[in-house]
Parts: sequence; C-alpha cells; structure tokens
Amino acid sequence: MLKLLVLFLFVNLITAQSINKEPFGTLPTGQNVSIYTLENNNGVAIKATDYGATLVSVKVPTGNGQEEILLGFDNLGDYLNHTAYFGGTIGRFANRIANSTFTYNNTVYNLSKNDPDPIKGPNSLHGGRRGFDKLLWNVTLSSINTLKFELLSPDGDEGYPGNLNVTVLLSLSDDDEIIWTYEATTDKTTPINLSNHGYWNLAGAGSGRNGIDGQTIQIPANYYVPVDPKYLIPTGEIKNVTGTPYDLTASINIGEAINKTDISFLITMRYLIALTFCLILSSSFAQLGGGGTGVGLHDNLGANVGGTGLNANVGANTGGGLLRRRRAPGVLKGAAIGAIAGGAMGAIGR
Ligand SMILES: *[C@@H]1O[C@H](CO)[C@@H](O)[C@H](O)[C@H]1NC(C)=O
Ligand SMILES: *[C@@H]1O[C@H](CO)[C@@H](O)[C@H](O)[C@H]1NC(C)=O
Ligand SMILES: *[C@@H]1O[C@H](CO)[C@@H](O)[C@H](O)[C@H]1NC(C)=O
Ligand SMILES: *[C@@H]1O[C@H](CO)[C@@H](O)[C@H](O)[C@H]1NC(C)=O
Ligand SMILES: *[C@@H]1O[C@H](CO)[C@@H](O)[C@H](O)[C@H]1NC(C)=O
Ligand SMILES: *[C@@H]1O[C@H](CO)[C@@H](O)[C@H](O)[C@H]1NC(C)=O
Ligand SMILES: *[C@@H]1O[C@H](CO)[C@@H](O)[C@H](O)[C@H]1NC(C)=O
Ligand SMILES: *[C@@H]1O[C@H](CO)[C@@H](O)[C@H](O)[C@H]1NC(C)=O
Ligand SMILES: *[C@@H]1O[C@H](CO)[C@@H](O)[C@H](O)[C@H]1NC(C)=O
Ligand SMILES: *[C@@H]1O[C@H](CO)[C@@H](O)[C@H](O)[C@H]1NC(C)=O
Repeated sequence: MLKLLVLFLFVNLITAQSINKEPFGTLPTGQNVSIYTLENNNGVAIKATDYGATLVSVKVPTGNGQEEILLGFDNLGDYLNHTAYFGGTIGRFANRIANSTFTYNNTVYNLSKNDPDPIKGPNSLHGGRRGFDKLLWNVTLSSINTLKFELLSPDGDEGYPGNLNVTVLLSLSDDDEIIWTYEATTDKTTPINLSNHGYWNLAGAGSGRNGIDGQTIQIPANYYVPVDPKYLIPTGEIKNVTGTPYDLTASINIGEAINKTDISFLITMRYLIALTFCLILSSSFAQLGGGGTGVGLHDNLGANVGGTGLNANVGANTGGGLLRRRRAPGVLKGAAIGAIAGGAMGAIGR
C-alpha cells in the first residue's frame, strides 16, 4: 500500500488549546453523532462533526465578541436534509464526472448517478448518492489541536474501484490557520479528489448578499475550464481568463464579479443565482478579504505528494442565492463565498 495523496490546505484567519466533544444527534440508523470544538489561544473556535467529517462552525473574535464566518446549521437534522454540501468532506471525487463513467485499463467503471436528477443522472457529483459527506467517520484526537477523521470506503463504493482508507486531519493552529491534511491509500487504481465544501462569508454568515458585495477575492489562475451550461461538465476547453469574469488574478470585488458573469454560467436550479467555475492555478495561493470583520482568508493549496502528476486547483462557488442563514432558519436570503477550499486530483495508482 502506498501513501497516495496528501493535500495541505491552510486557511490563515486574522493565533489550539482545547478540544471538547458533545452529542450532536442520532442518525436514522441509531448511530450517535458527535460534534467537536477546537479553540486556540486567540479565541478562534471551530466545530466539526463526525457526520461527513463536516466543518460546522468557524468563529473569529472581532472588536465586539465573536463572528461566525462559515455557513452551516446548528443541528444534525438540517445537515441530513440539505443538499448543498455545507462544510462537508467531499469524496471520492469533488466535482462532476460526465455520464457517471470513466474508463481505466480498458474497464468502464459505472459510478452512482446523482446529478442533476437523483435517479436519472446522468452525472456523478461529489462522490455519488452517498458521498463521504454523508458517512459517519471515526474520530480520534491526534493531538491537542488536531482531529483525525478516518473512513474505509470499500471496493465498489458508489462504483469506484479499490478499498480506500481515507484520513482527514483537521487542525487549528495558534497562528489562526485551519489546516486540512488529506491522505488516502488504496489497493486498486482509482480517481480521487478530496475537498472541503465550506461556504464562507467574512462579513458574517448571516450578512447576506450585502456582505458579499464588500468582499474581495484573488486567485492566481491564468486559465479557466468552461463548462456545459446545462450539466456543468467541463467541455474540455481550457481558456485564457483575460477579459473574462474569471480573471481573478488581481484582487477584485466579488459583488462586481458576480454582476459581470456570463449569464450562461448562472445556475437557476436550487439557488437563485450561483455560479461555479474551475480555475487552473498558476500558484497555490488564493485569498478573500473585506467584509468588515477584520478577517482575511488565505488559502494555500498544494503539497500534493505521490500519484501521477497531480494538479491542485481551486473550486470557487461564488454564490449569492438562496442559501440558508445560520441563525435564521426559514429566512431564505443569504450569500456565501463557497468552497474556496480546493481539491487535489489524480488518477492514483496502487
Ligand atoms: C447513543 O448515546 C446514548 C446516550 O449517550 C446511549 O445511551 C446509546 O447507547 C448510544 N447509542 C449507540 C448506538 O452508541
Ligand atoms: C427534514 O425534511 C423532512 C422532509 O421535508 C422534514 O419532515 C423534517 O422536518 C426535516 N428535518 C429537519 C430537522 O429539518
Ligand atoms: C454523455 O452521454 C451522452 C448520451 O449518450 C452523450 O451524448 C455525451 O457525449 C456523453 N458525454 C460525455 C462527456 O461523455
Ligand atoms: C490492467 O488489467 C490487467 C488485466 O486485468 C491487469 O493484469 C493489469 O495489472 C492492469 N493494469 C493496471 C495498471 O491496473
Ligand atoms: C459498466 O456498465 C457496462 C455496461 O452495462 C458494463 O459492460 C461494465 O461491465 C460495467 N462496469 C463495471 C466495472 O461493472
Ligand atoms: C471505526 O471504528 C470501528 C469501531 O471501533 C471499527 O470497527 C472500524 O474499523 C473503524 N473504521 C476505520 C475506518 O477506522
Ligand atoms: C485500510 O486499513 C486497514 C486497517 O488498518 C488495513 O487492514 C487495510 O489493509 C487498509 N487498506 C488499504 C487499502 O489501505
Ligand atoms: C491571455 O490573453 C492575453 C490577451 O490576449 C495575453 O496577453 C496573455 O499573454 C494570455 N495569457 C496566457 C496565460 O496565455
Ligand atoms: C450587483 O448588482 C446588484 C443588483 O443590480 C446591485 O444591487 C449591487 O450593488 C451590485 N454590486 C456591485 C458590487 O456592483
Ligand atoms: C477537484 O475538486 C475541486 C474542488 O471542488 C474542483 O474545482 C476541481 O475541478 C476538481 N478537479 C477535477 C479534476 O475535477
């Protein structure tokens, strides 16, 4: 067994001290779900649950107490019900796989179809119908500031070949970094692209579109991957970002970027307006700023170890739509900067 993939992702917030475990509810199977809190010396507190190895909350100190900057829910029921992958660990493969098939070594693999229709597919999104975000992970404390999530995805899971042991380490440092470390081992070659699907709003999770308008984003990517507007599958083209709304090489205002975006990339399915795009990074650093909380988000993607010529890339869902606000259930207005967490991809050999 080889160690196949390691992805380090650092989110520097604006300086870990204790870990608490509490009950977070019960699954329909009767299994108990827990929620864990990591807190550092600077008053940053994050919460994560074993259900989906999901990041539930990120609270940062501001002048006036703490501000929640991650969208999510306060109870397990909402996590079981929603379909937006809030804060979850995405696997085996973040992003869509066209027609839910891929071919490797002359074998066609048939993946579970869940996008856009749960029954008809045609595509496989974020690991399929029961992706890693919907599984109960084992959790141990690997150090005072680190949670270790473990999962065994069996051979054939959602159609993917090979037994896959997955470990996700989630740490909160005293330098205000949230650090995800992804590792997987397999006994058959399989594609993999692990990611966290957090939605961030630096102005506060409940601040809505108005908060988004004042925030900036910068992603060093000279090329983007156009997608088929119906199913959001990459068309295979690789395009220069210059002169397009996808040019985020210099820091830009997110509200303006959303307003400039080509209509064909706007999805009007579950969200009123949301856009998803795939950028090809020229370096491994992306950042969000503004929002008035004094918080900046810096995202270092990279350090992909092993595998076959892995590419790091950022998946940016910049949403301004019908996302539920954290503390106001029933209020269907909100906005979030989604999934600046990136994925590492590769077809990984054993
Ligand atoms: C779940 O937790 C409750 C309360 O602590 C306990 O009584 C029950 O045995 C646990 N169930 C399982 C399946 O571990
Ligand atoms: C989950 O959805 C079902 C069906 O819509 C609903 O009956 C239930 O109350 C929801 N649960 C929570 C916790 O929101
Ligand atoms: C998916 O299947 C459809 C219908 O068979 C086909 O037209 C399309 O080219 C396929 N897409 C890809 C990316 O293979
Ligand atoms: C491809 O399949 C053949 C026949 O099953 C097998 O012997 C070989 O090891 C496979 N190669 C790889 C790289 O998986
Ligand atoms: C995928 O489906 C095709 C067509 O039904 C079948 O020939 C093939 O064996 C399937 N692949 C696997 C790995 O089961
Ligand atoms: C998770 O814990 C259970 C119970 O201790 C154990 O049977 C299982 O093998 C563990 N799974 C992983 C992936 O570590
Ligand atoms: C997964 O972990 C288990 C327990 O450590 C081990 O027995 C098994 O060989 C591992 N499988 C893979 C594919 O790494
Ligand atoms: C993108 O296009 C612009 C304008 O044509 C050109 O100046 C630039 O060199 C191109 N960048 C890349 C990375 O190809
Ligand atoms: C984007 O468009 C909306 C709706 O027209 C407008 O309210 C908002 O001020 C615009 N945002 C920016 C930053 O231009
Ligand atoms: C891997 O996941 C990221 C984040 O979701 C996504 O943007 C990227 O397109 C995926 N990579 C591939 C090759 O699909």
